[in-house]
Amino acid sequence: MTPTTSRTTNGRGRLYDSIVDTIGDTPCIRVRRVAPPNVRVYVKAEFFNPAASVKDRLAISIIEEAERRGDLTPGQTVVEATSGNTGIGLAMVCAAKGYPLVVTMADSFSIERRKLMRFLGAKVILTPRAAKGFGMYQKAKELADANGWFLARQFETVDNANVHENTTAREILADFAGDRLDYWVSGYGTGGTVTGVSRVLRRERPETKIILSEPANAQLIGSGIAQARGTDHAPGGSHPSWEPHPIQGWTPDFIPYVLQEAIDRSAFDRVIPIAGPVAMEWSRKLAQQEGIFTGVSGGATFAVTMQLAEQAAPGSVLLCMLPDTGERYLSTPLFDGIPVEMTDDEVELSRSTPGYHMEG
Ligand SMILES: Cc1ncc(COP(=O)(O)O)c(C=O)c1O
Repeated sequence: MTPTTSRTTNGRGRLYDSIVDTIGDTPCIRVRRVAPPNVRVYVKAEFFNPAASVKDRLAISIIEEAERRGDLTPGQTVVEATSGNTGIGLAMVCAAKGYPLVVTMADSFSIERRKLMRFLGAKVILTPRAAKGFGMYQKAKELADANGWFLARQFETVDNANVHENTTAREILADFAGDRLDYWVSGYGTGGTVTGVSRVLRRERPETKIILSEPANAQLIGSGIAQARGTDHAPGGSHPSWEPHPIQGWTPDFIPYVLQEAIDRSAFDRVIPIAGPVAMEWSRKLAQQEGIFTGVSGGATFAVTMQLAEQAAPGSVLLCMLPDTGERYLSTPLFDGIPVEMTDDEVELSRSTPGYHMEG
């Protein structure tokens, strides 16, 4: 059908006092071209947050709750161990609110992430990859203890799952009010998303199946092996089932305390493992066939959603979390095979008309 009018927009009907006021209220978007025709598949696109990931929610929650409790004083330095998105979210929030930020990060994570945090004014302290997530975590704690800094503690703080209970989950309820919601699909990093959202869905949408995913070569939950814990609920060491995996932001080398609540409450119906290469394939398909640009963890969550969609009863409605933007992965294997120079096809196309050929 030919549209009768051009697309117009009218503004949001409000002015914003700060970038942090734009966090949340991300859209659920139907995926049509790659999804089976007899079900409806939606993605909740967390890259609409101002620093382009789900972790903006956690960042504002940690900082504002610490301010409220008096745990964070004006101008005090914030420190955190993060594989990237939490650091980028915290850097955005700390810049907007005037707190210095120091981030510790294993040197295995993407260059873009380091540069983005530094661009946003944070200091990035690299830790050896051999020391894994546990090493970067211990380094943040060491620095906090030595300097009297505020340690954000994303893996243990109640402010993590709470913000997903109060925002992400409320948004899902509102957007699917009066509609079916048969499956909600997520991965986990800290577990904040699944723990917070599941509290609400279990209570208010008990028919919704909650599906969690983890990397095929790092099945921490799937192993059934309990996590050793030290003081303050922090991990006591690396989990024996962990192996390095390419789904950045997912499944650290320990089961976070924030996630433990969801495990103990049986807050999810199934855990479906997914392999890194499959995750990347679906991230590329979402970009090239739907125009939806998400990272590896988004591709992983979507891969699982598509498996479910293929088997779901006709008419089912599925919602998949997309945690961040694909732009964060330009230097990673996600972009393998995406050339910088013109391909033979492109050269041939260029030569097919007379003007503006490249030299050589
Ligand atoms: C890219 C990416 N995907 C998924 C997640 C998982 O989110 P959560 O920490 O709420 O479990 C994170 C955060 O760790 C992330 O950075």
